[in-house]
Amino acid sequence: ALRVVIDTDPGIDDAVAILFALASPRFEVLGITTVAGNLGIDVTTRNAGRILALAGRSDIPVIAGAATPLARRGFDTAEIHGAGGLGGVDFPEPQAAAQGDAVAWLAGLLQREPAGSVEILALGPLTNIARLIADYPGAAARVRRIIAMGGAVEEPGNIGPRSEFNMAADPEAAQIVLTSPLAVTLVPLDVTRRVRATLDHVARLAQSARPGAQASAALIQAYFQSTEGRESRPLHDPCVMLLAEAPELFDCSPLRLSVDLRDDPGALGVVAGEGGPQVALQVRGADALSLLLDRLTTG
Ligand code: BDR
Ligand code: CA
Repeated sequence: ALRVVIDTDPGIDDAVAILFALASPRFEVLGITTVAGNLGIDVTTRNAGRILALAGRSDIPVIAGAATPLARRGFDTAEIHGAGGLGGVDFPEPQAAAQGDAVAWLAGLLQREPAGSVEILALGPLTNIARLIADYPGAAARVRRIIAMGGAVEEPGNIGPRSEFNMAADPEAAQIVLTSPLAVTLVPLDVTRRVRATLDHVARLAQSARPGAQASAALIQAYFQSTEGRESRPLHDPCVMLLAEAPELFDCSPLRLSVDLRDDPGALGVVAGEGGPQVALQVRGADALSLLLDRLTTG
C-alpha cells in the first residue's frame, strides 16, 4: 500500500480526492493535516473531519496546520467552493476532535516510521510542508516523496496570468518546497485541466450506493453550479491521488522551477539546468477519469 498523509484545504476537489484515497485499496491514509487555503483553517479542519465521518473513517486523525501563509494574507474562494467549503453539500459532523500542530505531528510521524516509507499528498498551499522542511529538516528528509497539486507551466494560471491558486496563496512556501532537495512531483494545471468531469460522470457517481460516490456526485454537481454554462469541470486535486496510484497515466519531466514572489505571485518559471522536481505535463485524461469513477463507485 501507499502510506500517505494528505495535506489539504477542503475544498470541493480536495474532498473528492480524499474520498478517492479512502475508497482505493492502494492507499493507507495515516492522517489528514489541514491548511488554510480555499477557506480559513477552522473551516478546512472541520471539513476534513466531516469527510472522514461520511466515509466511516473517523479513526484517521485530523491535525490542524497553518492558519496563514508564511508571509501574506490568504485568499477567499467561497464563491467557488461555497461558504462552508463543500459546495453546500450535506456532510455529517466530525466524530473526533482535531489535534493541533500539523507540522510537529508530521515531523514526529516521519521520525517514527521507516525512512522513505511515507508520502505526502499536498492539495493546498504548501505552508505546512515548507515549515516542515525549514523547522524539521531531518524529519523532512525521511519523506518518500511529496506530490503537490499546483502551478501552471505552459498553461495560463487561474489566479494571475501565469499563477495558480495553491502557489499564489503562499508563494514563499512554494519556493521552499520546489527548490528543496526532497523528491517532489508537481501536478500543475497543465494536466489537471485535462481530467474533467461531465454531468454524465456525476450521474454515474450518483447511481452508486456508496456514500463516497454519492457525496462526490453532489460535490461535483455543486462545482458546476458555481460556473454556469460549462460542459465539464476540472478535477484538480484528485490528480495527485491518480498520479500516486497510476503513474503510467502521466508523463513527468524534471524541471528546475523558479517562483515569482512579486508581480504575478506563484507564477512558475523554468530555469535552465539539471535537477528540480518532476513535473507532470501530460495525462491520459479519459483513463484517469475511469480509474477515479471505478474507485469511488466500487472501492
Ligand atoms: C487548486 O486551488 C484550489 O481551489 C483547489 O482545491 C485546488 O487545490 C486549483 O488551482
Ligand atoms: Ca485544494
